[in-house]
Amino acid sequence: MKLTIIGSGYVGLTTGACFADVGHHVVCVDNDERKVKTLHEGKIPIYEPGLEQLVRKNVASKRLRFTTSTEEGVDHGEVLFIAVPTPPQPDGSVDLSFMEKVAREIAQYLDSYRVVVDKSTVPVKTGERVAQTIRRYARPGVEFDVVSNPEFLREGSAVEDLMKPDRIVIGGNSDRALAIMQKVYEPFMAPVLVTDINSSELIKHAANSFLALKISYINAISEICEAAGADVLKVADGIGADKRIGREFLNAGLGYGGSCFPKDIAAFIAISEQLGTPFNLLKEVERINARQIQRFIDGIREALWLLKDKRLAVWGLSFKPNTDDVRSSVAVSLVERLVAEGAHVVAYDPKAMDKARELPLAGKIELAPSAMEAASGAEALVIATEWPEFSAVDLSELREKMRTPLIFDGRNIFDPGVAASFGFQYRGIGRGVVTARTP
Ligand code: UGA
Repeated sequence: MKLTIIGSGYVGLTTGACFADVGHHVVCVDNDERKVKTLHEGKIPIYEPGLEQLVRKNVASKRLRFTTSTEEGVDHGEVLFIAVPTPPQPDGSVDLSFMEKVAREIAQYLDSYRVVVDKSTVPVKTGERVAQTIRRYARPGVEFDVVSNPEFLREGSAVEDLMKPDRIVIGGNSDRALAIMQKVYEPFMAPVLVTDINSSELIKHAANSFLALKISYINAISEICEAAGADVLKVADGIGADKRIGREFLNAGLGYGGSCFPKDIAAFIAISEQLGTPFNLLKEVERINARQIQRFIDGIREALWLLKDKRLAVWGLSFKPNTDDVRSSVAVSLVERLVAEGAHVVAYDPKAMDKARELPLAGKIELAPSAMEAASGAEALVIATEWPEFSAVDLSELREKMRTPLIFDGRNIFDPGVAASFGFQYRGIGRGVVTARTP
């Protein structure tokens, strides 16, 4: 099938590459000329496992190409996926100006039937608005349908999530459009859930909010564990073994970050208020999330007394492992706060160093070429992202490199007893403080 993706960011690019790989002929549109040129050369602007190879392979086989022309995109695709950014506004509601602009552009070039798909994460009722906008700006009598088809990919495993989805959600009111969408997804052999547009849009916000709720739930438990002398990992295993609860997304830590959860939870709160049905539970989810990083910093201060002029090694800057994305990264906010208290931060991340160099924070910290070099001479080590290479370090070498042996583990990557046996004072999340054991 001929498909067009408008917006070649994280979702658009990965979706386009995966559609091409299953045999569709895909045109990806982006208004950034430099990006389009780089993509044609087979280079991708983000680190996402497997994506670069997929883009190269499908560009070479001529099933995937890129353009800056929306007209070319509308002309090519029988289905037009809108995957443009939907950034947050200061009050938490979503800025839908890119969606609205693309809807007008599509309308301008529409001359025969097309299915227009909302792929971007949008508040409920956006599909209705997109349809009204296209109808208003398109030439009279031209046929089209609007469909909602939310994306559930995770950064770091985006290709796998797209290729082997748990479910495909398609929301639409036209049998003609739904039949075309079923055909688009046939090669993925995944369960398809067909709904109306509003339910489909709600599924996306409700799914992300539920996952964030799970994280805040276990983070709230982690605070109780600290007060009670219990271990949150054991509690998570114990409750997660119940199939109705499940162990995933029960990892206590510094809280959720990234370009999706913080924005989507705020957006869901905003839209529920606009609808006159305020979702107060989600406000508590946000509050617990903010509290988690504050509690962690309080713990560092408690051990070090003052942070001013302390040399602190920070491992991890990306918002989670297997990505170079530092947008709304809790690791970055943590470093900002440590720096604001006068600490000298030496940071290292396996993949996010280039992205970190572009942050305003970059001028205020030192970036080290390896985890061990960051830790060299440090008065404490702070673990902010759980990259696998961090848990594999040689703890005796680490102990020798550091000036004073303190570990603040914001992602619970080490076993407290093991850390203590190597002479570290260790503080994780929801596991109490373990003092060094001298061999
Ligand atoms: C999330 C959802 O998982 C995807 O299903 C969704 O499609 C995507 O948002 C989106 O809306 O586009 P993503 O933001 O890539 O995906 O990352 P997650 O793996 O969900 O992690 C989000 C945050 O939660 C990270 O900061 C992570 O460190 C944190 N987290 C996750 C925890 O603190 N504990 C956990 O147990 C799991």
